[in-house]
Amino acid sequence: MIIAIDGPSAAGKGTLARRLAEALDLAYLDTGLLYRAVAAKVLESGADPDDAEAAARTAAALALDDLARPDLRDERIAQAASRVAAIPEVRTALLDLQRRFAHTPPGGKRGAVLDGRDIGTVVCPEADVKLFVTASPEARARRRHKELLARGETSIYPRVVAEMRARDARDSARATAPLKPAADAVVLDTSEMDPDAVFRAAMDIIAARTAPPSSGPDAAP
Ligand code: CDP
Repeated sequence: MIIAIDGPSAAGKGTLARRLAEALDLAYLDTGLLYRAVAAKVLESGADPDDAEAAARTAAALALDDLARPDLRDERIAQAASRVAAIPEVRTALLDLQRRFAHTPPGGKRGAVLDGRDIGTVVCPEADVKLFVTASPEARARRRHKELLARGETSIYPRVVAEMRARDARDSARATAPLKPAADAVVLDTSEMDPDAVFRAAMDIIAARTAPPSSGPDAAP
């Protein structure tokens, strides 16, 4: 079983994906970390995140072990990640790793949950369930601000709003794999929902989408 979860930053994808993976005993891949890891390595090498050749070379050599770096959540890396993510060669170089994870998940799991921006549209268009998790820009900015403060980082709310707008604009406007719901995705607006409500709604959608064909009295013979 493959579950694809896409949506903008701080909409609640990560929390939901982790909980679904645990409840359904599936492997979990946060694909944002791939772009963040590429960005971190490019920055470290002194190259520019817009340098297509350097970024594509880094992406082609990326391994799952690279996702363990503790600094990948930094905002500086998030911004650079959305720059390398706009380079088509980078996206192509990361496709194989993501598809392999989805189809032969680690740990012998029977399936995988992948979250990102283009899982339902490009990486796994064949996913069994596609969720597009979104929320208002205000709700997302408030959540990100709270999350940064909880991590002990300094966070200035207007700056969080500006950085989120910049990243949203880059992710939605890029020519390759822009952020948008797949035609067959179920859209979940989490602006007014807490994590438990989002989890319950997602479990209901998954149950409905993966239920075996009805064998009740109305079923065709
Ligand atoms: O955690 P947050 O939602 O803020 O970001 P993320 O999911 O870690 O993604 C960081 C950046 O990577 C995004 O702004 C996108 O530009 C890029 N990304 C992408 O292009 N495609 C994906 N499947 C996942 C992330």
